[in-house]
Formats: sequence, structure tokens, C-alpha cells
Amino acid sequence: MRGKQELIDKLTGIRSSRRSYYSELNAMVEEMQKKNKQLEVINQLTQIHVNKSWEEVSIYIASQLSQVLTFDRFVLTLIDHSDLFFYISEQDGANWSCHLVKRQNQTGTTMSITEFKKLLKREISDSYGTSVCLQNQAGKIYGFLTLLNREKVEYPQEEFQFYKRIGEHVRVSIENILLFKDVSEKVKIEAQLIQSAKMAALGEMAAGIAHELNSPLTAILGNVQLLMREIKDGRLGKMLTDIYQCGLRSKKIIQNLLAFSRQEEYQFENIHLCDVVEDVLSLVGYQLSVSGISIKKETDLTIPHVRGSRHQIEQVLINLLLNAKDAVQGKSNPEVIVGTCLTCLEERHYVSVYVRDNGVGIEEEHISQIFNPFFTTKEKMKGTGLGLSVSLGIAESHGGKLLVDSKVNEYSQFSLLLPIQSIEGGE
Ligand SMILES: Nc1ncnc2c1ncn2[C@@H]1O[C@H](COP(=O)(O)OP(=O)(O)OP(=O)(O)O)[C@@H](O)[C@H]1O
Ligand SMILES: [Mg+2]
Repeated sequence: MRGKQELIDKLTGIRSSRRSYYSELNAMVEEMQKKNKQLEVINQLTQIHVNKSWEEVSIYIASQLSQVLTFDRFVLTLIDHSDLFFYISEQDGANWSCHLVKRQNQTGTTMSITEFKKLLKREISDSYGTSVCLQNQAGKIYGFLTLLNREKVEYPQEEFQFYKRIGEHVRVSIENILLFKDVSEKVKIEAQLIQSAKMAALGEMAAGIAHELNSPLTAILGNVQLLMREIKDGRLGKMLTDIYQCGLRSKKIIQNLLAFSRQEEYQFENIHLCDVVEDVLSLVGYQLSVSGISIKKETDLTIPHVRGSRHQIEQVLINLLLNAKDAVQGKSNPEVIVGTCLTCLEERHYVSVYVRDNGVGIEEEHISQIFNPFFTTKEKMKGTGLGLSVSLGIAESHGGKLLVDSKVNEYSQFSLLLPIQSIEGGE
């Protein structure tokens, strides 16, 4: 019992000569804990992942800082040429959120901390900011870290020093991210260049081959048709029909290739999508209904005219309808809906023609590939994989879009959007 008491006395320092020993020890322990926490935070801040978005980086820094400093909001500011990006993070309960505010940098491509403070006062007038700058090794300021408080806060000298040190540590991580983004951007641009060069070469080659094949194929088809008139039945008749079908298929591929390489010239005119729907249904509607597919029309006759190539828009619609026909094959109540409507996307107005089917749908991992040339999930002799890539090319050449929405085993909907204002602008 006596030993225990002695130990307590020693630890608390009650019998020591300095009366304040206990509170000093306490303060020391608290100080040590705080320093430990600060070191931990610094350590965490050097481990920001390079592939994070700036919003994620801002939230990460804010959440780490909130463990050792008190503030209402945190801002990561980055200077990119003549633009300033403010990534403002704040906490709501356990969740952090971040929003971006973009401003022009009136002072050129860099900014001093005094100029930044002035700007911050103007932009965020309801709060007081405490900022440190992010400076590269050449001394150029490329960003700031700011703690925002609704009330004026004077951080103790020691906390402010710590905050400055944070700036130095975060700087390294941020520079790594900037470097990573720069390199990734360059790699991406290079890949795009290679891709477009490949496409251009492919287009040129396709156009050459298509022209070469077109004439002999016309002769083959013509002669086979003549022979088919004479020999209708038997083995020979069937063989001729096969030759004719294969010839037609080859012609379709050639036409697709020609359109794909955009070697054909098309006239732009004022067109009404409902007329196009009527024309196309008179061409392929029969083919669909004899396969037992019910076709529904949802056309809105009040939509405005747009400028475009009737032939090309028809081609897109035919591609979409044939895809829908393939997709509903084997379904118990096959149905294809063709409709037109007005639609608004990213604050722009479009007229839309859509094809919806209740077929097999598209698997999520295929969605990003279906517009690539030669991508097909159909059997070897059935699909060339060019329909959608040609259609997308046509949509883009009209300043429009080709959108897809699908759920496996439920439905697929493709919508061709054409901008309304193009009627005034012309082509
Ligand atoms: N309505 C749809 N439902 C389900 N899958 C679809 C639909 N439309 C397109 N797809 C998928 O997208 C792929 C690419 O379509 P695309 O029209 O480009 O080529 P294709 O139909 O296979 O061949 P082609 O049109 O050249 O004869 C299809 O193979 C199919 O997997
Ligand atoms: Mg197709």
C-alpha cells in the first residue's frame, strides 16, 4: 500500500519541490501528443495519390488538417496560366464536399500572396482567410492553401508555423500530381493522334478498295440476276441465290466503307425528321413486320425542320432499325418503337429521332466499344461492325450526337440528336 502511494506521489510530483510539476507534466504530454498528431498529418499529406482529382486532393488535405487545426472551410487554389481554380472543401457531419470556382487571373500567370489575399477578400467576402503559398523550386508561386473562417481567427504562432510547414510538404505532392497529369495528358494526346492517323489511313484504304470492288461487284450481281431468271429451281438455282445474297452483302459492306471514309458527297437541305421516319419505315418496315416484330410510331409532328443530309439521316435510321431487329430476335413479344421529339442537352436544343427495342440489351462493358469500327457481337457472316461507327460519324458531321441507353435483357434505345439552330446557320 505504501509502495503504491509512493509511486503515485512520484508520478504526480506532489512531494517534489516544484508545485506546478503536475500541470507542467500534463501540458508536456499534451504538447507531445499534439506534435505527434502534427507529424502524423504531415506524413499523411506526403502520401496523396497522384491520380486523384483536384477535388479529391482538396478534400484530403482539408480532412487531414482538420485533425490539428480548426477552420470552417479549406481552399486549394491552383494557378493554371491565366486561370485560377479554387477547390473549396467543407465538412457536413462526417462527409466532406468540394466545389470548384474558376476565375481569370488578372495578374498574368503567377500571383503574389498579397495580391491573392486581396482577391480572396473580394471573392469570398463572408470569411477571413489564412493563406500560405505553394511555390516551386524556381520560386514561382503556382497556388495557395487557405483556411477560411467566418469569424476572424488569429492562429497561435506555433500553429501558423506548422501550417507553413504543411505548405512545404504538400507542395511536393502537388508538384508530383501536376507532373503526373501533364505526362498523362501528353500520352493521351499522343494516343489520340495515333488513333486519328490510323483512322485516316484506314478511311483512305477503305475508299480505295471500295471503289475498286464496286464495278466488278455490279457486274457479278447483274449477271447473277440474269442467270437466276433462267435457272430458278434445283441445286443450281439455290447456288445462284446464295451468290446473289453474298453479292448484296458485299455491296452493303462497300457502301458502309464508302460512307465510313466519308468519300461520298452529300447535299444538306431542310428536313423534317418525321418525313425521314416515314420514308425509312416504307423501306424496312415490311422486313421488320414479316419477322413478327410490332412497330410503334411515336412521332411528334410539331418538331421544327433541321438542316441535314436526308440520305445520311436515313442511313442512320436504317442502321438503328436493323440493329433493333437483330436485338429482338427470339424475344416473345418483339417490339420496336420509332419516335421523334424535342430534347435539351447541356443547354442546347435538339430534335431527336430514336429507336427503342425490347431486345437483348447491351452489356455494360460493351457500351464503350459499340461505336468503334468493326466492333460486333454478331456471328461472322451477320455483322460487319460498321453500322454504329458510320452512324456516329454522320451524327457528328451534322453537329449532333448519337446517344445510347440500354439495360441487359430489357431494352436498348439509340437517339440521334440534331441541333435546331443549324437551320439558321446553314452548312
Ligand atoms: N439495339 C441493340 N441492341 C443490342 N445490341 C446492340 C444494338 N445495337 C447495336 N448493338 C451492339 O453493337 C454492336 C455494333 O453495332 P453495329 O451496328 O456497329 O454493328 P453490327 O450491327 O454488328 O454490324 P453491321 O451494322 O455493320 O451489320 C452490335 O454487334 C451489337 O452487339
Ligand atoms: Mg448494325
